[in-house]
Amino acid sequence: MSYPSNICRWFYRSVSKEALVGTISLGVVFVAGYFYGKRRPFTMSISKSHGGGKDNPLMQYVLNHSLREHPVLNKLRLRTMEDPWNIMMVACEQAQFMANLARLIKAKKALEIGVYTGYNTLSMALALPDDGVVVACDISEKYTNIGKPFWKEAGVEHKVDLRIQPALNTLDELLSSGQAETFDFVFIDADKVNYDNYYEKSLLLVRKGGIIAIDNVLWGGQVLNASSKGPDTVAIDKLNKKLHRDVRITLSMLTVGDGLTLAVKL
Ligand SMILES: C[S@@+](CC[C@H](N)C(=O)[O-])C[C@H]1O[C@@H](n2cnc3c(N)ncnc32)[C@H](O)[C@@H]1O
Ligand SMILES: *[C@@H]1O[C@H](CO)[C@@H](O)[C@H](O)[C@H]1NC(C)=O
Ligand SMILES: *[C@@H]1O[C@H](CO)[C@@H](O)[C@H](O)[C@H]1NC(C)=O
Repeated sequence: MSYPSNICRWFYRSVSKEALVGTISLGVVFVAGYFYGKRRPFTMSISKSHGGGKDNPLMQYVLNHSLREHPVLNKLRLRTMEDPWNIMMVACEQAQFMANLARLIKAKKALEIGVYTGYNTLSMALALPDDGVVVACDISEKYTNIGKPFWKEAGVEHKVDLRIQPALNTLDELLSSGQAETFDFVFIDADKVNYDNYYEKSLLLVRKGGIIAIDNVLWGGQVLNASSKGPDTVAIDKLNKKLHRDVRITLSMLTVGDGLTLAVKL
């Protein structure tokens, strides 16, 4: 299903039949992939439905047979695709998965750290009960203004509490206003160098049994050799290693989108 395993399967088939052709082709694929990956680090994502996954027929099959996108979510996705930074948008199948998780744990209070055009904020708001709330953190009015009319059109504007300032300030405000252990679901998806800070504060803000979902934990495959990459990759890899040992949570690292870790607070 993922690109790496497809390449592996194809490799083993080639070697058993025509070893030489297979090996040479694989070399070409890897060298091309290496340079392509350097130019556009996001293209190695495993299954993101826009970007890396859209030419993958199995990914198409998954979307064709499971996506139930609310009509306004669909409109917002198409509007977001007009923005040059649309690669930042969450994968739609991932947003649907997280909305299902929120329903499963009967979430009422959610926290979105990094909103962009608010696709996941809208998806969450639609999944929460009418008195639920998504505290949505971003520093960009420009991006979040794209989403606002769609939240309104979907009739969930009253569930979105947008805070335009560095997310760490908002998290500190939530903590100092007595909201520790009151959140059910957190989605961490903003600047990567602050991921560990977001995680630690989120762990204070979620209740026991609450979920912290952390996006981009595979970072286009760059985590494989993180020490030689930039500060974003180093920060992600460091947090991945820390979470694996963290006894305050149980966890899963999923290969959906660009990699998604679910941490459940014990
Ligand atoms: C990957 S996008 C978020 C995508 C979004 N979760 C979605 O559903 O499509 C990252 C966002 O984080 C925001 N951001 C970057 N640094 C931030 C900070 N220090 N505090 C809050 N938001 C920040 C950016 O403006 C950008 O909109
Ligand atoms: C997915 O649906 C589209 C549109 O109906 C269709 O063109 C495409 O062949 C389908 N692909 C798969 C793999 O199901
Ligand atoms: C990782 O990066 C280092 C330094 O650039 C390099 O020496 C090493 O061969 C790389 N390893 C892999 C698996 O790419």
